[in-house]
Amino acid sequence: LFSAVPAAPPDPILSITAAFRADPSPKKVNLGVGAYRTDDGLPYVLPIVRQYERHFANDHSLNHEYLPQDGLTHFTVHSARLMFGKHSAPLNDNRVVTVQALSGTGALRIGFAFIATFLGQRLVYVPNPTWSNHRNVVPHAGLPPTRTYRYFDAATCAVDIDGLLADLKAAVPGSIVIFHGCAHNPTGADPSREQWKQILQVVKEAALVPFFDNAYQGFASGDLDTDAWSTRLFADSGIEMFVAQSYAKNMGMYGERVGALNVVLSSSSSVDIVRGQLKRLIRATYSSPPLHGARIAAAIMSDEHAFRSWQTELRTMSERIRNMRTRLRDCLVANGAPGNWDHIVKQIGMFSFTGLNAEQVRFIRSKYHVYMTLNGRISMAGLTEATVQYVADAICDAVKS
Ligand code: LMR
Repeated sequence: LFSAVPAAPPDPILSITAAFRADPSPKKVNLGVGAYRTDDGLPYVLPIVRQYERHFANDHSLNHEYLPQDGLTHFTVHSARLMFGKHSAPLNDNRVVTVQALSGTGALRIGFAFIATFLGQRLVYVPNPTWSNHRNVVPHAGLPPTRTYRYFDAATCAVDIDGLLADLKAAVPGSIVIFHGCAHNPTGADPSREQWKQILQVVKEAALVPFFDNAYQGFASGDLDTDAWSTRLFADSGIEMFVAQSYAKNMGMYGERVGALNVVLSSSSSVDIVRGQLKRLIRATYSSPPLHGARIAAAIMSDEHAFRSWQTELRTMSERIRNMRTRLRDCLVANGAPGNWDHIVKQIGMFSFTGLNAEQVRFIRSKYHVYMTLNGRISMAGLTEATVQYVADAICDAVKS
């Protein structure tokens, strides 16, 4: 029965974690998966999350009943407000459908399943490069394999805005376009606000449908509103669009799978229909989402004091990452590593797109036990004061070899 099942290719990101775990070397450093670590290299549970965990554990009026298919209303209402802002036109017009999702990936998967089921076989354009799972999720949801639009200029380590606009202008009308709302993964290069306005213009002229993947709100700049700016620009412009949200990085609840899918409609008359079909898709896929993490996220977002404490944590986490950028760049320069390393400090978010090629990445892994994805992306949050010099030595050796 199973002999004809082909082996699955290894996941470009998660297979790095598995290889790292299997490596017995005491010197090993994991810069693969995007997960925040303290300066001791340990996973971090936000104190405000701990506080609510204790609070809920002691509240015996709570139970573990099923949520409805679209999740915890207290969570989805606050999640949409966080994403679209206090003065959001579509929210105030009651034309946003928000359903709880299994973090960002779950939001994308249900969103694309909805598109495949009700909006036809549309093409989906992703930036080149993009988070590897985008290319996975889209065909898995029943749509054609993704196409790419130009995004990154390796020579300037910045957004190739001319290439991007030209490719979107040439895209098949009605296609879906994935945008990273902030902290583009893997490049760490985001369009400027002026460039986002140009992109919006082209999206409108070319009749494209944006699907924002906003997995790093508050984590990129340390400010929740700043990191929502591009998504809000599009949502307030009156177009219809999709937005995926994740609370993995910004609340550190990676394994709890807390997220949301938002569908922005042109009119409130379709809200019930779209919500009903999303609920049906969710029911067929996993019935209903988990309660624990959503309950914590909702509590944090709805209490003023807790919200402020969360904002402080976001600033602390993003500052540690920025500090690691400076430290790594400085160590590379002090080491005399050939080339210019300023892009490491210019990039934003969890990752740095170092410019290392696959051969150099393999060299660093086998000689130094430092793990990163083959495209040369490193998770800055995996670096610590204790490891940054070692990693800089490894990179320097690879570049000089
Ligand atoms: C990453 O890009 O490393 C993260 O978004 C984690 C993941 O699921 O790939």
